[in-house]
Amino acid sequence: MRIIRSIAEMQALCRTFHREGKTIGLVPTMGALHAGHLSLVRSARTQNDAVVVSIFVNPMQFGPNEDFGKYPRTFQQDSAQLDQAGVDYVFAPSVDEMYPAGAATYVHVEGLSEKLDGHSRPGHFQGVTTVVSKLFHIIPADRAYFGQKDAAQVAVIRKMMRDQDFDIEITVCPIIREKDGLAMSSRNAYLSATERKQALILHRALLRIQTMADTGEADANKLAAAGREILSEEPAAKLDYFEIVDPDTLDPVRDISKGALVAVAAWIGNTRVIDNLVLYGPGSSRVPRTFG
Ligand code: PAJ
Repeated sequence: MRIIRSIAEMQALCRTFHREGKTIGLVPTMGALHAGHLSLVRSARTQNDAVVVSIFVNPMQFGPNEDFGKYPRTFQQDSAQLDQAGVDYVFAPSVDEMYPAGAATYVHVEGLSEKLDGHSRPGHFQGVTTVVSKLFHIIPADRAYFGQKDAAQVAVIRKMMRDQDFDIEITVCPIIREKDGLAMSSRNAYLSATERKQALILHRALLRIQTMADTGEADANKLAAAGREILSEEPAAKLDYFEIVDPDTLDPVRDISKGALVAVAAWIGNTRVIDNLVLYGPGSSRVPRTFG
């Protein structure tokens, strides 16, 4: 496995792969890797000749009062895991390499970027789409892998790709959870033992929604109210949003009969935790896989 820090070198390597008729799989990450990231890497490994994982803590997607400075950086550990997973290249540029002084071009998906996490984190999705667009130009992959964990991010990236004609196939991999149900996240490292238990309320609320949907409740308002009620049972959790939306437009739906995304975000202490569930309509499977 090789670690590449230069954009020009990464682009040259990709040109060579394509000239040789080899396919490229890209897994964009911000590092601090866990089993969720590694599940994306495994999918990429089975479907492509060459696998590139990018590790870049992207300052543009953090707000001025957010955690860019303290975001966990575990590069040695990450690269050892990626080497073991059979990754060919880690693309790990510096901030100056990605955003040289004077860089002034942004990719903004109007409308979608202001919904769900975009509503509470202004500018966040513009940072995501700008960096993902750059990564797609640096690594013109055949396939790119994203996690269902960040369902709104998936919707925004898909829309950007449609609007900007990116010729890359997107695979969305299911949420990987801890044994007790907590969705894995690099930010879980911020949680104390007590907070970690309190954070389980998000998963509990989603399980309740799943059960209600399985037993025939299709009214999105009733389902969302039940979800918010469960969240309110944990005083340590400060609800940001609990929404039932269309997975592509992120607009609220009235009923879930055609399928819906149930998305929740809450603050546990100083840590923002998110989770979600895809419903396929009443009586649907308990194990959502990918959508779209
Ligand atoms: P990061 O949070 O490092 O996540 C990288 C990828 O791993 C994302 O596609 C995310 O959805 C996926 N992922 C995270 N936790 C997961 C879990 N528990 N199960 C399955 N997949 C999971 O998302 C980002 O980085 C950035 O916004 C990025 C796209 C790299 C742009 O900077």
